[in-house]
Amino acid sequence: MDKRRPHLNISRASLRIGGVEARSLAEKYGTPLYVTDVGRLAERFNEAKAALSSRYGNVLVAFAYKSNSTPPVVERLAREGAGATVVSVAGIELAIRHGVFPGDIVLDGPSKSKEELSAAIKAGVGMINAESTQEARDVEALSRALGSKGVRLGFRVNFGIEAETHAGLATGGREHKFGVARDEVVKFCRDDRSLTFARVAGLHSHIGSQVSDAGVFRRQTEEMVSLAGELEALGTDVEEFNLGGGLGVPYKKEDGELSIGDYADATAGAFARSRWAGRARLVFELGRWVVADSTILLTRVNYVKAAGRVRWALVDAGMNDFIRPSLYGAYHEIVPAWTSTEGRSGAAYDVAGPVCESTDVFGRGRRLGVSLAQGDLLAILDAGAYGSSMSSTYNMRPLTAVATVEDGRSALASPRRF
Ligand code: LLP
Repeated sequence: MDKRRPHLNISRASLRIGGVEARSLAEKYGTPLYVTDVGRLAERFNEAKAALSSRYGNVLVAFAYKSNSTPPVVERLAREGAGATVVSVAGIELAIRHGVFPGDIVLDGPSKSKEELSAAIKAGVGMINAESTQEARDVEALSRALGSKGVRLGFRVNFGIEAETHAGLATGGREHKFGVARDEVVKFCRDDRSLTFARVAGLHSHIGSQVSDAGVFRRQTEEMVSLAGELEALGTDVEEFNLGGGLGVPYKKEDGELSIGDYADATAGAFARSRWAGRARLVFELGRWVVADSTILLTRVNYVKAAGRVRWALVDAGMNDFIRPSLYGAYHEIVPAWTSTEGRSGAAYDVAGPVCESTDVFGRGRRLGVSLAQGDLLAILDAGAYGSSMSSTYNMRPLTAVATVEDGRSALASPRRF
C-alpha cells in the first residue's frame, strides 16, 4: 500500500486501483487508458471541503472543470456538493446537466467571447469574473440586451503576487495577461456609474497553479480583504471572495507539500479573523489538489530497444494523451502495473510514446525494479489533473478512453474516440 495514495496497491508485478487489477482493466478496455478512482476523488473533495469549512462557515468549493471534465468525475463531485468553475459554454452546460445549482457556477477566463458571456447570463451563473473593466461593461450591455437584472459580476484582481511555481503555471505577475490591476478596480468602483443590470458583487484572485507556499495564499487573502474595505467605502459591498485554486500536490516522493490544513489556515482561517467574517461567501476553485492522485494512465509497452547507452521503453500512450511531461517538463512517477517476468532488475528506462516528436517522453532514467518486455503494462501516476482534459488527437490518434473504478468495480466513462 502506498501511504500517500491509499487507493493504489502497487507491488512489483501488479497494480490495483480502487480494488481492481490494472491488467484486467487493460484487457477489458484496451490501452492507453485513464483510470479514475471516483471514491478517492470524493474523499479528497470532502477532505478539502471539511478543512475549509471548519475554519469558515460559508464556503463553496467550485471544482475547476478544466483540470478534469470527465462526466463521472463532475457528476460525483456535484453529488458531493461541489460547485463548478468553468471557462466555456460547454463547461456551463456540463455543470448544469450534472445538477450543479447555477448560483454555484463561476465563469472565469481572460478572454471571454460575447457568446460565452451571454450563455452565462442566460444560465444565471453565480458569478462572472471579469478580467478587464471593458468586460464589466460588456456584461452590463449584454445583461441589458437580455433583460437580465442583478447579474453578479466579480473582478479578478491582479495584485502582483508572484507565486513560486513553473513559469508556465504562474499567473499573478503584474504583466501577466490575467486580471485587472487593483487601482483600476478601485477607479471603476469609484467613477463608473454605468452598471444597472449587472453589479459588482465579488472579488477574485488566482495566482497560479501547483503552489505550495502558505505565505502567498495568506498574502492573497489579506490583499482581498484590504481591497474590499476600500471598495466598501466607495459603496461597493463585496458578497463573495473567490480565492481561486492553485494548491499543489507532491508529484515526486521528495517534493514538499502544503497540507490542506495549512492551506485552509492561510485562506479560510485568515478570512475568518477579518472583519468580513460572517458577511460574505468564500469560494475556492481547487482543481489539481482534488483530482490529481485519483487517476493513473495505463499504458502498454510496444517495444523495448537500446539506442547507445539509453534503454527505451516505447509505450502506447503519447504526449497527445498526456502532455504535462513534454509541455512543462513535469515529473510523474511511473510504476510497473503488470509484467510478464517476475525477477528484479536494476535496469533504467527512458519511457516514451509513439508521437513523432523528441519531447514525447514521460520519464528518463527510470528504475522500475523490473525488466520490461513487449506487452508489459506501466502506470503513470497522479495523472488526474490536466491529463485527459488536455489531451488531443495530434498525429491522428484517438482520444484515450477513460474508465472509472470504485470498491472493486469498474465502468467505461468515455470510450476511445475522435
Ligand atoms: N482558477 C483559475 C482562474 C485557474 O486559471 C485555474 C487553473 C484554477 C482555478 C485551478 O487551479 P488548480 O487548483 O488546478 O491549480 N495545465 C497546467 C495547469 C494550468 C492551470 C490553469 N488554471 C498543468 O498541467 O499543471
